[in-house]
Amino acid sequence: MATKELIFVVDTDITHREMMVRWLKDQGYQIKVFDNGELCLNMLDENPAAICLDINMPGLSGLEILKRIRLANRDIPVMVITKNDALGPAVEAMKIGAFDYMVKPVDKIRLQTNVERAIEMHSMVNKIQRLQGELKKTYSYKNIVGHSESMRQIFGQIDEVSGININVFIGGESGTGKELVAKAIHFSSAYRMGDFVAINCGAIPEELQENEFFGHEKGAFTGADDSRPGKLEVANGGTLFLDEIGEMSPKMQVKLLRFLQDKSFEKVGGTKKINVDLRVISATNRNLQDAVKEGRFREDLYYRLMVYLISLPPLRVRKDDIPLLINHFLKKYKDEIPKKITSVSSYAMEALDRYPWPGNVRQLENEIYRAMVTTQTNMVQIENLSPDIQKHREGHVGDDNRFIPAIENLSATQPVVSAPEVQSLSSHPTPPVGSTFNEIEKKAFLEALERANGKVPQAAKALGISRATFYRKLKKYRSAN
Ligand SMILES: Nc1ncnc2c1ncn2[C@@H]1O[C@H](COP(=O)(O)OP(=O)(O)OP(=O)(O)O)[C@@H](O)[C@H]1O
Ligand SMILES: [Mg+2]
Repeated sequence: MATKELIFVVDTDITHREMMVRWLKDQGYQIKVFDNGELCLNMLDENPAAICLDINMPGLSGLEILKRIRLANRDIPVMVITKNDALGPAVEAMKIGAFDYMVKPVDKIRLQTNVERAIEMHSMVNKIQRLQGELKKTYSYKNIVGHSESMRQIFGQIDEVSGININVFIGGESGTGKELVAKAIHFSSAYRMGDFVAINCGAIPEELQENEFFGHEKGAFTGADDSRPGKLEVANGGTLFLDEIGEMSPKMQVKLLRFLQDKSFEKVGGTKKINVDLRVISATNRNLQDAVKEGRFREDLYYRLMVYLISLPPLRVRKDDIPLLINHFLKKYKDEIPKKITSVSSYAMEALDRYPWPGNVRQLENEIYRAMVTTQTNMVQIENLSPDIQKHREGHVGDDNRFIPAIENLSATQPVVSAPEVQSLSSHPTPPVGSTFNEIEKKAFLEALERANGKVPQAAKALGISRATFYRKLKKYRSAN
């Protein structure tokens, strides 16, 4: 039998202790025995999966030991063992957080099943905590990439609203990260233990919206064979994210408004009032004010939802975030795409930086992913980008996307793994910015000129740029000297 988890058995009564040890060893557990509680306390670092603790021991009382175990590590399940005539301390122990209690002499089956159950629970709790931790980390605003002033303001807003339950409205173009911000608020709020329930109001046919939100009672309509909870009930204790709120039907708008007034509702076909406690975040990439003006969206609902507004800026107005985002996505997909892609060539970087990104961060993410899939080297090159984006490289002429080894190879000498290094390829005026790229570019220009024996048309052709651009660059480098 494979050895299983480590169990501590703490009991002064040798015969009873040995009996327990034998039964637990029969189950495959590793056992450590202690005849007093203090010794056991010193060994908690060994991280036992469960502890069987006699609470009627001389010296430090069993209850005191239990308290200290709980203080040192709240998660280890402790089974207390008590004398038949001492149930008072057992009840006390349960209050302090013992997993269960057993009366002496313990029953073999009870001991074995209790220990098994305790370990199962313990590992489940650990798993849940780990997953919750991961989710929190994934959606914490610290994972929303951005260092531009406008994104810093967004982080401040997330912080501000996380602690209070007010209705938050998130506006912003498609792909700016509205859902990401909604999740960040959820996972940093008191409602994080509940679910994050998203409803895409634009995706549910009008006649089904009510059912989706409120659920139904058995027999509410033909085919309603059982009672079903709606999204409001599922989101109880958590966050309800109303996406594309502008698409909600007029009938549903009235019902939502009524629900928001006292956070209570009735299921379709039901008469019982159901109260829920949840936080509401809504979002849209459309102009909701226009919808109000045109009478498509209720003004009273608009004001109720928009108690606190977070407006996400489009990517084109916070271009200094682009290098950081690129680096983030290179890391995000590095395990999925089995190539060691660590950098972006300076030409590709320039095009990515100059492109206006109508699809915002989502488009940038897709672009980087696709480029990582198509590149044959350890670097994202200009030719791996969509034609539309390639065109935005400075000095680009027509559809000529010729690969220029001199510059691509030079930039390859720069590992672009960490954020600051990616930043250094940015043409934006933040620290060591520009200088590296300019130096590389200058070197390539001068080399091309040298190879062409000083003939500008030939040098320009070799670099795949127009004569005019070549002259302009040359002038810039000469005037910089
Ligand atoms: N600041 C950011 N940092 C990291 N990833 C981001 C950021 N902003 C957006 N993303 C990523 O971009 C993608 C789109 O984000 P999200 O779905 O939150 O956008 P949205 O505003 O809800 O878009 P839509 O209006 O189209 O629903 C997601 O994969 C998200 O993880
Ligand atoms: Mg969205």
